Amino acid sequence: MMLTGKTALVTGASRGIGAAIARLLAQHGAAVSVNYVNNREAGEAVVQNITALGGKALLVQADVTDRNQSEHMILEVEQALGPIDILVLNAGFQFRIAPFLDFPWEDFEHKLAGELKAAFFCCRAVVPSMITRGSGSIIAISSTLSRHPGDGFCAHSTAKSALNAFVQSLAHELGPHGIRVNTVAPGLTLTDATAGIPGPQKQAIAAMTPLRRNGLPEDIAGPVLFLASDQSRFITGTYTPVDGGIQMT
Ligand SMILES: NC(=O)c1ccc[n+]([C@@H]2O[C@H](COP(=O)([O-])OP(=O)(O)OC[C@H]3O[C@@H](n4cnc5c(N)ncnc54)[C@H](OP(=O)(O)O)[C@@H]3O)[C@@H](O)[C@H]2O)c1
Repeated sequence: MMLTGKTALVTGASRGIGAAIARLLAQHGAAVSVNYVNNREAGEAVVQNITALGGKALLVQADVTDRNQSEHMILEVEQALGPIDILVLNAGFQFRIAPFLDFPWEDFEHKLAGELKAAFFCCRAVVPSMITRGSGSIIAISSTLSRHPGDGFCAHSTAKSALNAFVQSLAHELGPHGIRVNTVAPGLTLTDATAGIPGPQKQAIAAMTPLRRNGLPEDIAGPVLFLASDQSRFITGTYTPVDGGIQMT
C-alpha cells in the first residue's frame, strides 16, 4: 500500500496501459480517477474492477486535447476526491503510420498538437494545487520510438520526443516546489492500439527482445507505481524504457 491517502488521475484509463495503471495505483491505496473519452462501458468496467477489490475510483469523461474539458474534469476530480497528488499522462491518440513523403502536414500537426495539448492542459490545471501543497508526481507515458524512431513513425516519434522534452522542462521548473516529473517509455505492448500488428511481426519482435516476449499493460504499470510513490522521492526528469531490453540506451 504505497499510495494510501493519495489521489491520482490517469488519462485514457478505460483500456490498455492506462487501465492497468489505474488498477495498480488503486491496489496500492490511491483514490483513482479513471478518464475516458468515448468508451464509457470500458471505463465503468475498470471502476467496477477497482471497487470490487475494495479500492476507490471515479469515472470521468473528457477529451484531454480540449482545454475546457480537461479543466472541468480536474475540478470534478478535486471536488469528489480532493487535490490530485499523482497525474499520469497516458491517453493514447490514433495516428497515421506512413512514410514521410506520404505524410500530410495536417495529420502530422494533429498528432503533435494532440499529444502536447493533452500534457499541457492537464498539467496547467493540476500543477497550481501541487505547488500550494509542495508535492506531486507527474508521469508521462512516452514511447521508445521517441528515441529510436522507425520507418513510418515520424509523427509519433516527433510527438513523443517533444513530450520527453516537456517532461524535463517541467522537472526543472517544478523541482523546487517538490513536484517530480518523469517519463515511462513503453516498447511494443499488447493493447487495442497494437492489435492490428500481424502476429508474425509481434513474434519477431519478441524473438529480438532479451526477455523474449512482447510487453503487457501490467509491465508498464509497475514502474509508474514506483515513480508515483515516495520510494522514488529523489528521482525527477528521468526517462525509463520498459521494453524487455530491446532498445538499450
Ligand atoms: N501499446 C503500445 O505498444 C505502446 C507503445 C508505446 C507507447 N504507448 C503509449 O501508451 C499510452 C497508452 O496506449 P495504449 O496502447 O494503452 O492505448 P489504447 O489501448 O488504444 O487506449 C487508449 C486510451 O486512451 C483514451 N483516449 C484516446 N483519446 C483520448 C482523448 N482525446 N482524451 C481522453 N482519453 C483518450 C481511450 O479512451 P476510450 O476508451 O474512451 O477510447 C483509451 O482509454 C499512449 O500514450 C501510447 O502512445 C503504447
